Amino acid sequence: MEQGFVKTIAHLSDLHFGSANVEVAEAVLADLALCRPSLVVISGDLVQRARRRHFRAARSFLERLPAPWLVVPGNHDIPAYNLLARFTMPFRNYRHYITPDLNPFISDGEVAVLGINTARPLIFNFAHGRINRQQIARIESAFKNLPSSVFKILVTHHPFMGQPDAPGRVLLGRARLALPVLASCGVDLLLAGHFHRSFAGDIGEHHQQLGHPILIAAAATTISTRLRDEPNSYNVITVAPPKVTFEERAWNGFEFEPVGRTSYVCNHSHWLQASC
Ligand SMILES: [Fe+2]
Ligand SMILES: [Fe+2]
Repeated sequence: MEQGFVKTIAHLSDLHFGSANVEVAEAVLADLALCRPSLVVISGDLVQRARRRHFRAARSFLERLPAPWLVVPGNHDIPAYNLLARFTMPFRNYRHYITPDLNPFISDGEVAVLGINTARPLIFNFAHGRINRQQIARIESAFKNLPSSVFKILVTHHPFMGQPDAPGRVLLGRARLALPVLASCGVDLLLAGHFHRSFAGDIGEHHQQLGHPILIAAAATTISTRLRDEPNSYNVITVAPPKVTFEERAWNGFEFEPVGRTSYVCNHSHWLQASC
């Protein structure tokens, strides 16, 4: 990772259209128009129940975003109660209304972003997720031949660690198998959602001997009413290698406002908190 560019990415998550607060949705669109990110990442759970009208609302929201967007599915984007649809065409509505690409990739020579679908219709607890060996190989092929100067971001719905108060309670199957591969192909930042809680840090604090420092950041639910003791929020991520800054912008009842700002600098072995 080398110096020389500044990129601003907005990270939203868990929109849950069907349980979304329309006022908050309008406010985040207005806030994004002011922030002017170069990319909007949305880490899954676009809808509440995978119904067509929920997906239509999510699609309308995406079309009003002021920047290109990259999204991945979450567990709520699969039908929960329509078992025939769940087991035979779990991503039909997601593919139709959102995107047919469940593992999207974009790169502009400075930042490369890969999304990987971790939602699964067939696992015992379908709120949990999984990454498979083909997806791990896909991550490797997407990133391993890119120059070290390219900042590499992997987006999933389920985080590669548990919540900060229980970091070892990982809901993503095969995360431990994938992490060394992510480190070996130089992934710099993991973005996720699912817990509806916002946090960031160096995942190496919980997984030793990765050999390459990887930042992890989760966004809270940006616009839904399914709050987990935190307000609706999203993160504005400024990538200016070797520094990465997360600004959490939260809904205060009237508008989105900055509520926290944390910077990390990469020293080749760790991401260290730095002054903003
Ligand atoms: Fe969610
Ligand atoms: Fe989820």
